[in-house]
Amino acid sequence: MGFGLLKSYFKVIKREYYTEIHLGQLILNWICQRMFRINANVPFSVHHTSLIQGFHNISIGGRDSLMCLAGKGGCYWTVFEGSTLEIGEGTIWAFNVCIQTGNHVQGDFGKFEVASVKIGQNCWLANGSAILAGVTLGDNVIVGANSVVTKSFPSNVVIAGAPARIVKNSEGSDSLL
Ligand SMILES: CC(C)(COP(=O)(O)OP(=O)(O)OC[C@H]1O[C@@H](n2cnc3c(N)ncnc32)[C@H](O)[C@@H]1OP(=O)(O)O)[C@@H](O)C(=O)NCCC(=O)NCCS
Repeated sequence: MGFGLLKSYFKVIKREYYTEIHLGQLILNWICQRMFRINANVPFSVHHTSLIQGFHNISIGGRDSLMCLAGKGGCYWTVFEGSTLEIGEGTIWAFNVCIQTGNHVQGDFGKFEVASVKIGQNCWLANGSAILAGVTLGDNVIVGANSVVTKSFPSNVVIAGAPARIVKNSEGSDSLL
């Protein structure tokens, strides 16, 4: 029992993409996931204050995204059956980011209307942003703090506000608004 516990503990912390996460954070996450069974079905470290539901419908891009999953708290993601969430390589996010692939049906809150969400590569979802069902974001999109993204946007833009609108091109992009 003790040896098994130690083995799975080392399996978590030796992954190279966790090198920038505080060890105490990883241990706390591990305790919540493996002992208290919160986010237990996620095979990666999840910040202990986040809730990720429907992980089997999520495809998540590499190292940077996995670091955010472990290190950024207060995130609330629900990916309903019949929908998916795709997050491209290099995409990062901050604290309190909400992503939902469904809405309660108005007049019958027990039912849901679902629509998949896709976020491109090298995007940055800033603090407190909410990405609603059916949204697709291109590559290199920056979502400003506390934005509510209600519709889809192309690549290489900075979007902000509630509802989110394009405020400028993202830096390094060639496209002109
Ligand atoms: C989106 C962001 C990166 C843009 O920064 P920037 O490139 O310097 O953009 P600017 O400050 O030039 O803003 C451009 C316009 O968008 C508006 N804007 C920027 N961020 C906004 C936001 N979050 N909500 C609403 N409007 C916003 C500005 O008011 C400005 O409008 P104006 O042209 O009418 O004056 C920045 O505003 C932001 O939200 N940062 C997030 C910080 C954060 O969450 N950090 C967590 C650490 S990971």
